[in-house]
Amino acid sequence: MAVRLGDEAPNFTAETTEGPINFYDYLGDGWGVLFSHPKDFTPVCTTELGRVAALKPEFDKRNVKVIGLSVDPIDSHEGWAGDIAETQGHALNFPLIADSDRKVSDLYDMIHPNANDTLTVRSVFIIGPDKKVKLIITYPASTGRNFDEILRVIDSLQLTANYSVATPADWKEGDDVIIVPAVSDEDAKKKFPKGWKALKPYLRITPQPDK
Ligand code: BEZ
Repeated sequence: MAVRLGDEAPNFTAETTEGPINFYDYLGDGWGVLFSHPKDFTPVCTTELGRVAALKPEFDKRNVKVIGLSVDPIDSHEGWAGDIAETQGHALNFPLIADSDRKVSDLYDMIHPNANDTLTVRSVFIIGPDKKVKLIITYPASTGRNFDEILRVIDSLQLTANYSVATPADWKEGDDVIIVPAVSDEDAKKKFPKGWKALKPYLRITPQPDK
């Protein structure tokens, strides 16, 4: 059964490069990003893991725990970790799940048989502090992910979890936001003291409220 937005993220225990983990314990009360890789010792995945290691301070700043997954065993991950550090200039600084029995891959529907019936696709799951799935993106093996985009979405998810706003196309931290249509103009006066510009009655633009 596929995991969908709003579903409870399935919990699991797994072997990782940082020892055995219980996923929920690892996430604690914060946010999480679970992302899968087709296979160890593959070029695109090597760059992705180096990039996430480089961005770790950005994830930490947002109270987000990151965790990768590949279907190869732990000794393979350990060998690959050396290559990642050597070629990307950043050593793994978060756990990488060794999912050789495909338990987690199956739980999160990360194997798409029409893409490849043995390898995981590049899935990304963002999980909120309530353990609900907030975002799912799936990339093919040939395309490395844009982790700046993942951070941008986290900024939007964290903002919209706290204010009655939505973020427009290409929004980034600090840009103006949209007052959600469910908020009346009368309530908006209290919630958004900086005011707003109404381009249409349903399209009200206001400065980012926590800035
Ligand atoms: C890669 O990470 O480079 C990759 C993995 C599987 C298929 C193709 C490329």
